[in-house]
Amino acid sequence: MAPGRAPADGAAMRAAAMLAAMTLQGPRLMLRPLGEADAVEFAAMNGDADVMRHFPKPLSFAESEAFRLRIGRHFEEHGFGFWGVFQRDAPGLVGLVGLLNIPWSARFTPAVEIGWRIAPAHQRQGFAEEAARLALAHGFGPLGLAEIVAFTIPANAPSWRLMQKLGMTPDGRFAHPSLPEGHPMQEHLLYRLRREAHA
Ligand SMILES: CC(C)(COP(=O)(O)OP(=O)(O)OC[C@H]1O[C@@H](n2cnc3c(N)ncnc32)[C@H](O)[C@@H]1OP(=O)(O)O)[C@@H](O)C(=O)NCCC(=O)NCCS
Repeated sequence: MAPGRAPADGAAMRAAAMLAAMTLQGPRLMLRPLGEADAVEFAAMNGDADVMRHFPKPLSFAESEAFRLRIGRHFEEHGFGFWGVFQRDAPGLVGLVGLLNIPWSARFTPAVEIGWRIAPAHQRQGFAEEAARLALAHGFGPLGLAEIVAFTIPANAPSWRLMQKLGMTPDGRFAHPSLPEGHPMQEHLLYRLRREAHA
């Protein structure tokens, strides 16, 4: 081996080991941090008007990239984040599901949230549920979290129904602090799941 190769190989091996530690496997799905190669598919999902109908607006490519990089920094800092969701036996991005430290303050913070977003072609196939169960097991298992919360607007029935299906308990409403006073999407439903209640 040429001198000077070892450090590069060592760094590559460390990066591969880190990626393996941050990868979750389910019956049909593989969850892994998103990379630059996923940027176009990720932006297509984030720019889709239907996927984003319960968010203030779809994201531009630049906004999607800023989001992807922010998630990457969260993985570097905390070892977990919003994973890219992929099928084990088919190419293509299925969605984004995972855990994030909530960066703003509210009556239930500090807290870790679980969030999800599934591309239109992959919705209603149980992928969000499978990925969410992997993320919850990782959060309450290796990460040792005591509680995971989730929130969405009342109009987003697919999302709060999923929270209920996962065994999360409603805990009233709150005004999302990232949205301006009076914004039509400011009011959110809060759901919580404690480790003891996680099946
Ligand atoms: C919410 C979302 C992630 C669900 O993804 P999905 O892969 O289609 O969900 P699943 O197939 O795993 O369904 C699991 C459960 O979610 C609920 N659900 C999902 N889609 C639903 C719909 N269209 N209507 C009602 N309930 C729905 C149901 O409880 C379902 O269980 P069931 O099939 O036994 O009824 C998806 O609709 C989505 O990406 N929406 C746009 C992005 C978004 O709003 N994210 C949440 C922001 S808070």
